[in-house]
Amino acid sequence: MCGIVAYLGHKPARPILVEGLKRLEYRGYDSAGVALLSDGAVALTKTAGRISALEAVLPAEDAGQNIGLGHTRWATHGAPTTTNAHPHVDCTGKIIVVHNGIIENYATLKTWLAGKGCTFASETDSEVVATLIGHFYANPAESGATAALEGAARFEWAVQQALREVVGTYGLAIVCTDLPHVLIGAKKGSPLILGVGENEYILASDAAAIVEHTTQAIYLSDDEIVTITPEGFRTKTRANVPVTKELQEVEFSLEQIELAGCDHYMQKEIAEQPTSLARTLQGRIDLQNGRVVLGGLQSHLRTLTRTRRIILAACGTAWHAGLVGEFLFEQLARIPAEVEYASELRYRNPVIEDGTIVIAISQSGETADTLAAIEQAKERGALVLGVVNVVGSTIARTTDAGVYLRVGPEIGVASTKAFTAQVAVLAMMAIELGRRRHIASEHAADLLTELTAIPSKIERILDQGPHIRSIAEANIERNNWLFLGRGFNYPVALEGALKLKEISYIHAEGLPAAEMKHGPIALITEGLPAVFIATRCAHYDKIIGNIEEVRSRGGRTIVVADEGDEHIRRYADHLITVPETVDALQPMLTVVPLQLLAYHAAVLRGHDVDKPRNLAKSVTVE
Ligand code: AGP
Ligand code: GLU
Repeated sequence: MCGIVAYLGHKPARPILVEGLKRLEYRGYDSAGVALLSDGAVALTKTAGRISALEAVLPAEDAGQNIGLGHTRWATHGAPTTTNAHPHVDCTGKIIVVHNGIIENYATLKTWLAGKGCTFASETDSEVVATLIGHFYANPAESGATAALEGAARFEWAVQQALREVVGTYGLAIVCTDLPHVLIGAKKGSPLILGVGENEYILASDAAAIVEHTTQAIYLSDDEIVTITPEGFRTKTRANVPVTKELQEVEFSLEQIELAGCDHYMQKEIAEQPTSLARTLQGRIDLQNGRVVLGGLQSHLRTLTRTRRIILAACGTAWHAGLVGEFLFEQLARIPAEVEYASELRYRNPVIEDGTIVIAISQSGETADTLAAIEQAKERGALVLGVVNVVGSTIARTTDAGVYLRVGPEIGVASTKAFTAQVAVLAMMAIELGRRRHIASEHAADLLTELTAIPSKIERILDQGPHIRSIAEANIERNNWLFLGRGFNYPVALEGALKLKEISYIHAEGLPAAEMKHGPIALITEGLPAVFIATRCAHYDKIIGNIEEVRSRGGRTIVVADEGDEHIRRYADHLITVPETVDALQPMLTVVPLQLLAYHAAVLRGHDVDKPRNLAKSVTVE
């Protein structure tokens, strides 16, 4: 939900921290700060606003400190003010912390610490962690320290004891003014990785802040802490048990997170979909035999083939992909399936009987609600699979097995290329399961051939960018839109509405088109934009009727239809065409015009497309 970065090495830390924060800004951007350490003193600069605001208030001269912390925030406790911005310093002035996550019991701890004479400057939960560590560091005996702990051992002990008291989630980077050569990281429920360079170390929320310096990293697991000094690093559990961690190669490069000449990451990621989707499919489809080979699932295929029920758990756009997945598993594999909001599933004490498989869908692999739903499913004995983009993310490492999207880093807060890849992975799974149950190899081969043609078909839709921009422009003043689809395009209507809402701030609602007459049609007023997905599918004639209902009441129809469909033109105030494909694969095509519509509406309204207000790329808090 926010971005943390910390550096310890032989170079000046400040530029590395600031550049790292810029690469993490998509994770949260309501306030920012850096702390630089040298010889017993901390230089702390923080401010409300973006990282550009932070750069404006940093001292003109870089004192060249070699160790420091940085944070770009998405507030959960305390308004996005300068005082509440991170880094936070405890009342002894010795412990400095940046934090990603939520400390559930911060109020109780704060009261206890105040009773010990500790004072607080901010409203945040994060400051309580700094203060708790500072309290145990100043009073080792109170935390049960037996030996006369000194130096890094005492600092490490104070961190461990404090984290034993904490309930909640954290990715933490911590320094102590007494020890300007020691950096500690700790993880539970929020991401944290350690980049290992040549005599330099970078702790960060994700690899985007690291790849510029090194592609060697260790991924911390929950309840682990890492202590870093110029001589190296060691990892332990909170209970002080040494842990061996393997160095891993970070799987994406700097250019993948550059804008590459685009105005926005979202623009780049929409345009990337032909190539990113091709990468998702690459090496996984055996057209000759009508088979799908998903390496991550090979050892679970028998369980998958025999499964009696599939639950898909996700949030937001991933949930919309999950709804397409529900239809895919039912239509193609004839397996009962249902998509669940992870935030609901986690609290509902769900009935998950034997033979149920849970599929968690998540671009970031760090969404707290989805992680919690996974825990629920595992406690009930389900096989839990992940459909995830970020390699080594917490969901990727928590699920029993899974399939990576392989679309590269998705920086824009509004998810686009991840959605089409999620649908593609779910389609491959459904076709393979169907193939193992009742689909003839020829039918499977036909479906897979069509699937491999989708990336080039997306290319043809992207060519309509200027036309779609003109449609956005013609309707930009409208503050209420409807998105309507049926069957496989019903989830796409929901996704189109979400895209428009989250970046243009226009209110929009997605609906099954047939639901209009059960109430929402009362919303139709003169000129209200109603976006219909009306490709030739099983419901084509019915949706024409729905379009008529809206037009007869003065609504303005924006219609997404098949190329060459002349019949539909008379019903469309604005027409966008997509290449034909089978019903089950249409969502990967019909979503693209809606992504572009939302993008252009947001640009025309002058919003920050990649960092929309109140949002963050990865919701790692509840
Ligand atoms: C989608 O555009 C939003 N950014 C949001 O709904 C997102 O899909 C949701 O938070 C789930 O994120 P995840 O896929 O990383 O789990
Ligand atoms: N809970 C902390 C705060 O509100 C961190 C929030 C985050 O992870 O962005 O400052």
